[in-house]
Amino acid sequence: MPEANRLNILDFKKKKQAGEKITVVTSYDYWSAKIISETDIDCILVGDSAAMVMHGHPTTLPATVEMMALHTAAVARGAKNKFIVGDMPFLSYRKSLTENMNAILAIMQAGAQAVKLEGADGNEELIRHVVDSGVPVMGHIGLTPQSVFQLGGYRVQGRDEKSREWLLDQAKRLENAGCFSIVLECIPDELAVEITQALSIPTIGIGAGSQTDGQVLVLHDLLGLFKDMKPKFVRRFLDGYELIREALGDYVESVKDQSFPSKEESYQSAPAAKAQAAPGEKDPGKLYPGGS
Ligand code: KIV
Repeated sequence: MPEANRLNILDFKKKKQAGEKITVVTSYDYWSAKIISETDIDCILVGDSAAMVMHGHPTTLPATVEMMALHTAAVARGAKNKFIVGDMPFLSYRKSLTENMNAILAIMQAGAQAVKLEGADGNEELIRHVVDSGVPVMGHIGLTPQSVFQLGGYRVQGRDEKSREWLLDQAKRLENAGCFSIVLECIPDELAVEITQALSIPTIGIGAGSQTDGQVLVLHDLLGLFKDMKPKFVRRFLDGYELIREALGDYVESVKDQSFPSKEESYQSAPAAKAQAAPGEKDPGKLYPGGS
């Protein structure tokens, strides 16, 4: 049973207590979830960054509940052994209680084991209700991309004393409301340390230094799939953009010089296939030998 290996929210806390780092990465589709399912990554975030990296929008604001549910369902099919957090999209949890809960229902029924929402102000009552309803909630403070216009752009948060105190207070309030962990995005590392030490729940950093209880990165950033923008907190563990571009170039060349498809990559008529069949090969008409 692949679910048996899946982390749960108690493991998150245990990892913090044991000083074991928690690794989180975003995923939005079946194929990348499948690859992640074969790694030691602890948790997948189906982030509303999907609106940007999968759909080409300039912000996360165009993400909808339907969009997030679709991505969550694909990821859940690909990574049955991973703890999946579904991001609640822009304003989907700032409406009536019924609408908020229906949005959360859609994400959970798509296959998430928890939801994430941004900010503490105005969310604490809902978080208590959601947690009391049996749904784990991950908080998210610092640079909260859904508030990009209120924040005056994508900027590091908590750099002065007033906002440092405000963020520390937000973190404590999210813990009190029942969050099982909190994302700290783009804050000074000293503040991330202060928040991490003040909380009993794990902090997951992105652009928040190395001393948080875990790290999260957008998959496309860590695979180097975008060339244009790279904030300094991103490390590209692969030059995916160039590798994919080169592979596509090789494909075009191979088609043009007719080296693709080769004889081995082509089908033959039944008598010719029979003559060439490898020993034990039963049905050369089958696309997936051994499969259906
Ligand atoms: O949507 C997302 O990918 C996120 C991470 C950057 C934390 O919220």
